[in-house]
Amino acid sequence: GAPVEVNVGDIPVGQMITVEWRGKPVWIIHRSKEQLDGLKANDPLVADPESKRPGFTPKYAENEYRSRKPELFVCVGICTHLGCSPTAHFEKGGSSGMPANWEGGFLCPCHGSTFDLAGRVFKNKPAPDNLEVPPYQYLSDARIIIG
Ligand code: FES
Repeated sequence: GAPVEVNVGDIPVGQMITVEWRGKPVWIIHRSKEQLDGLKANDPLVADPESKRPGFTPKYAENEYRSRKPELFVCVGICTHLGCSPTAHFEKGGSSGMPANWEGGFLCPCHGSTFDLAGRVFKNKPAPDNLEVPPYQYLSDARIIIG
């Protein structure tokens, strides 16, 4: 598959877009300050907070934000359990059946794995790993290339 160039300069704060790369959905989220703060709150709740497990996180994303720049998160939107597509639940708190301490993230409808806004899987969920961060780099502040 060819690399995919994406204009990321127009994504509103707090929102995401989905692009296709190698036939897979790739999510790109422009995280707000509040959403980044929420990641810190999740550190004790996720299975691999610094993404030390091998396989799904490139070196440059082995950090709490799992990204090259904190505000922009790029990941493959496919559950690491059995490949379903998780759905976005960005509202904080217990709306739509999410836990009261929910900071926003994703729920896999197939077997209930939950992921935060850095794609980090919560503890005691069937998904064995965090969501995959694809290879990407910045061409400019407003453009990235995936692949
Ligand atoms: Fe996502 Fe099983 S495929 S939890």
